[in-house]
Amino acid sequence: MLKRFWLWLGRLLGKLLLFVLVVGAIGWLAGEAYYGWKFSGPVPTEEVIPADEAVQTRAIIEDAVRIVEQHRDNTRVLRDAHAKAHGCVKAEVSVLPDLDNSLRAGVFAEPGKTWQAVMRLSNGNAFPQFDSARDARGLAIKLFDVPGEKLMKSPVHANEQDFVMFNHPVFFVRDVAEYRQNFNAQANGQKVGAFFPGLDPRSWEIRHLIIALKTLAPAPDSPVSATYSSISPYKLGQANIKYRVIPDPQSCPPYALPEQNTALPNFLRNALYQQLSLDRVPACFAFQVQKQNAQHYMPIEDTSVEWDESISPFVTVATIKVPAQDFDSREQNLACDNLSFNPWHGLPEHRPIGGINRLRKAVYEAVSAYRHERNGASDATSP
Ligand code: HEM
Repeated sequence: MLKRFWLWLGRLLGKLLLFVLVVGAIGWLAGEAYYGWKFSGPVPTEEVIPADEAVQTRAIIEDAVRIVEQHRDNTRVLRDAHAKAHGCVKAEVSVLPDLDNSLRAGVFAEPGKTWQAVMRLSNGNAFPQFDSARDARGLAIKLFDVPGEKLMKSPVHANEQDFVMFNHPVFFVRDVAEYRQNFNAQANGQKVGAFFPGLDPRSWEIRHLIIALKTLAPAPDSPVSATYSSISPYKLGQANIKYRVIPDPQSCPPYALPEQNTALPNFLRNALYQQLSLDRVPACFAFQVQKQNAQHYMPIEDTSVEWDESISPFVTVATIKVPAQDFDSREQNLACDNLSFNPWHGLPEHRPIGGINRLRKAVYEAVSAYRHERNGASDATSP
């Protein structure tokens, strides 16, 4: 009797599992087909600015300052995002000597030119956590002594060109309105509400929830072994582009990082320190750009959509060398914390475009000003 019951239960559970798998596969295929259809066809090459964007932006700034204060734990006032740095390191950005004419613009106008720069490598969270926690990893680069009129009139940043990235190709919201909704829910502690704002399934952002979950990934072996993407689009002269920075070990002496103790809270800083400061081995990257092909679905106003690399591949415009160096002193770390990166610090030839970038202009400026004022520090220009 008991045996028959177990057999019956086993068959029932097997059928249930099969049913769930079939429904899951149909849902996945339907999703692929739907987005294949929705994300197809030509897109505008110009920005399209919604009427209420300024109001949404002001509300987001209020929430951003609220989050900065929520995450303060008897520490200095940290960044609202990417609060924890693994270090700020000196770098040299060299434009390819034979760069194609069509890609020569802004800081890439002069083939062979080398810019001195600083890189801040970070974890994405607003709260400094153990590096083993799933998170996005950030890379911000600031080029120094860049001549020419800049997009922002700040005298401190008058000679800078910034590039700000993290290690995932897409963002978990499409535009400013969705960011406002999502961020406000998070600031109010409603993690589920961020992606499911109401009972109406049409308002559910399941695809964006999946992007958010994928963005919160395990740590790389070292901050210099990840690929970092701009995610949002920019101008490069007349063209619309996205950019990324990828490791380029072939351009540096061979190096195998000894295994790190990933249970230590700051093992990514330790990895950087081991390579650059102890073993004195430089790290190399390539800076690449991907041009928009507006005949295909490569939108400016939706940062949740990746531009298809098989249609428009990334091409290298510059190499980046991070020389062997000491970067981990108290003074250097404090100066690193006092730096401000902003995608809008830079030349009109590299103007950020699209809603998420327009939003970032005001938010980065406001949060940077707020934390500098609360810390009694001045906005620094070099570490
Ligand atoms: C394309 C999407 C984005 C990327 C790639 C990105 C990346 C980054 C990175 C790497 C940093 C750290 C910069 C540093 O090292 O100092 C940062 C800081 C920051 N991000 Fe973003 N971010 C994005 C979107 C946003 C959005 C939509 C907002 C909010 C509107 C935002 C708000 C901030 C703020 C407030 C800071 C700190 C600014 C400061 O205090 O200096 N980010 N972001």
